[in-house]
Amino acid sequence: MQREAGQYIYRQLYSQLKEDILAFKYESREKLPSKRDMAKYLNISVNSVKAAYEQLLAEGYIYTEERKGYFIEPLDKLIVDPNAQIALEVQELPTEDSFEYSFSHMSTDIAAFPVDLWTKLIKRVFQNYDNYLSSIPHIKGPVELRQSIAKLVSYQRGIQCHPEQIVIGSGTNTLLTKLMQLLPKGIKIAVENPGYSRFRSLIKQTHAHLEPISLDNKGISINKIKQVQPGAVIVTPSHQFPMGTIMPVSRRINLLNWASETHSYIIEDDYDSEFKYETDNIPSLFSFDKNERVIYLGTFSKTLMPGLRMSYMILPIQLVKQFEMLNLNMIPDFSMINALTLNLMIKEGHYEKYVKKMHHLYEKKREYLIAQLTNVFKNNIKVKDTRAGLHFIVEINTTYSYAEIESRAKEKRLELYTLNRFSVEPLENNKTNKTLIIGFSKIKQAQIPQAVRRLKEVLWE
Ligand SMILES: Cc1ncc(COP(=O)(O)O)c(C=O)c1O
Repeated sequence: MQREAGQYIYRQLYSQLKEDILAFKYESREKLPSKRDMAKYLNISVNSVKAAYEQLLAEGYIYTEERKGYFIEPLDKLIVDPNAQIALEVQELPTEDSFEYSFSHMSTDIAAFPVDLWTKLIKRVFQNYDNYLSSIPHIKGPVELRQSIAKLVSYQRGIQCHPEQIVIGSGTNTLLTKLMQLLPKGIKIAVENPGYSRFRSLIKQTHAHLEPISLDNKGISINKIKQVQPGAVIVTPSHQFPMGTIMPVSRRINLLNWASETHSYIIEDDYDSEFKYETDNIPSLFSFDKNERVIYLGTFSKTLMPGLRMSYMILPIQLVKQFEMLNLNMIPDFSMINALTLNLMIKEGHYEKYVKKMHHLYEKKREYLIAQLTNVFKNNIKVKDTRAGLHFIVEINTTYSYAEIESRAKEKRLELYTLNRFSVEPLENNKTNKTLIIGFSKIKQAQIPQAVRRLKEVLWE
């Protein structure tokens, strides 16, 4: 045995013996030299041999017989299938800063996040909530946070609900997965088309049937819903994703009436309703519902940051007990530290102040960006539905196809999404106008002129 510098002697002996046993250099049930003989032979201490033998014993490579010594455990040869030896195809891993400018609709401006406050609140969570932190959370989340959210949605979204109807989760997708488990097998789930592609992928992985439904100028088509007869429909009434339409009250009433007549559910994804610019706050669909037909999905990904992974769902009363029964033995997946810190942030009024501050910041960026876009693209751009949220839609003249736009933007390190990504059927490329989704939350105000110039290079050069 060669001695290797920096390695314990016992570890070296253990590794060498293990290797030899696995290479079948020993007979099955062969006796190993006694500790004393092995130590003498290798000129090492008996303690080192003892430690190596004990480790081999613990892992099952050898066994002992009282007063007789150590023996080699009979082992089968491990099968190595040459066909199973496949290499992982890894493309170059994207680095965090692979984009220079971003028009992403998914992000927030985290430079403004009150890191010091959040850190102080986390400290208080450690000081005051050790009981919560050292045990498995309630399946619906800590009751304090559910109470805070119940108050928050009452004055922000007009929702009157009991904290027992609220379920905390680590993202809207996770909550939707849990919700799908409550709904009957084989149910038809209608989604908006164009719409949030992640929900489409998620539904396809469940027992449900996905039914994409086109939009008209008021949002999801009620006539098509009546034709398809789904058991539930997922909608974004506050700010249709991605087109930006605010669903008018007439369509809201149509939808609610359809749901109560057919005993179907409406899943309201209220992902960015906190941000309204030329209008006042618009009440949620949940607050209109008198028949327990709406399931509400809310998130802190837009107001705070997506990396927090904090979202919630408000269930109609008849689903609450069913949810609890189904999840009786489950462990929730959100971070308790984040949940309790968020609770303090909401309860003590910091959250509301922060959202107001971000609202101002986003309003300014949005205005500046629209001005820059119109200035650069002149009559070749139509900016649409900019009254809400953290993104808007533009139509711009270009000869490039959707695929070309996406690859050119990537090449030029501009994060950019087109309508093609959110449509079920690939969009026509022969039209001269292409529809893009322009998010303004991540980009810094000072970068906007360069980002717009970069967009011009992508579309026109
Ligand atoms: C349409 C839509 N719904 C929901 C969400 C929120 O997802 P989550 O709560 O999982 O972060 C987003 C996030 O960007 C979104 O764009």
